[in-house]
Amino acid sequence: MGFAGKHALVTGAGSGIGAALCRALVEAGADVVCTDIDGDAAERTASPLGERARAARLDVTDAAAVQAAVDDVVDRTGRLDLMFNNAGIVWGGDSELLTLDQWNAIIDVNIRGVVHGVNAAYPRMIRQGGGHIVNTASMAGLTAAGQITSYVMTKHAIVGLSLALRSEAAAHGVGVLAVCPSAIETPLLDKGAIGGFDGRNYFLQGASAKAAYPADRLARDTLKAVERNKALLVRPRSAHAQWLFARLAPGLMQRASIRFIASQRSHQARARTNTV
Ligand SMILES: NC(=O)c1ccc[n+]([C@@H]2O[C@H](COP(=O)([O-])OP(=O)(O)OC[C@H]3O[C@@H](n4cnc5c(N)ncnc54)[C@H](O)[C@@H]3O)[C@@H](O)[C@H]2O)c1
Repeated sequence: MGFAGKHALVTGAGSGIGAALCRALVEAGADVVCTDIDGDAAERTASPLGERARAARLDVTDAAAVQAAVDDVVDRTGRLDLMFNNAGIVWGGDSELLTLDQWNAIIDVNIRGVVHGVNAAYPRMIRQGGGHIVNTASMAGLTAAGQITSYVMTKHAIVGLSLALRSEAAAHGVGVLAVCPSAIETPLLDKGAIGGFDGRNYFLQGASAKAAYPADRLARDTLKAVERNKALLVRPRSAHAQWLFARLAPGLMQRASIRFIASQRSHQARARTNTV
């Protein structure tokens, strides 16, 4: 599948991975609607990309609005070739500190937001005889460590949704890809911290000198994975070892996770002491 002349919609495109996906899509010759709950941020992504990008405010928790955004692309262009369900939020910190509102918010954005995108785009793609759905999951959808428990729950749901849908979508010529990155250099690394959680230290696994993977590189990798009709994209490549370890030795992985959370709690306690 080449991207020239294809029509794409990206959610959460005002920042990070979504913005990088918009840049990569336009560079590859696609037309893209850059959407975000933050309409100004969507505009900041779209405006440097020229005529082939347009911006729209879209809250993925609003099913009717997601349907309307998909319908708008189809009404204007006749089809929607690529749907990127990318918008996401994170909460970091011990689970007992999360309010029910926070649990519900992450379910609404990270799970229902993707369901709304699938529900709006997939039947349309079946009717038009093809398309591709790309869901931004995470390595947190393939492995499970605490202090981002609510996030892990949502990303496991997205991996399951993507793989299962893929198996029934193939007969309709619709591809489904779950993108499973480890730490990517975006503002998300510093968001959603509760009770002294240090997202950057957590997601980079304590190695603060280690650089996170660039979002633009992930976006280019994602388009290649779409072209090759891959089921899962794990990046950086070094994360494959962790994924394999989780599958082959789940008991050892659990013990490693318990040690990791203990080291994170010590790091958070030290940081609290230093700020007092
Ligand atoms: N950065 C990482 O390390 C990393 C790793 C794995 C997976 N991810 C996933 O990548 C996706 C993009 O995250 P990012 O790192 O670019 O983060 P980001 O915070 O830079 O961007 C997320 C964007 O989503 C938007 N958004 C939030 N709630 C929304 C809603 N209800 N409707 C529409 N837009 C909404 C935000 O305004 C923001 O522009 C997320 O699903 C995230 O879970 C990120």
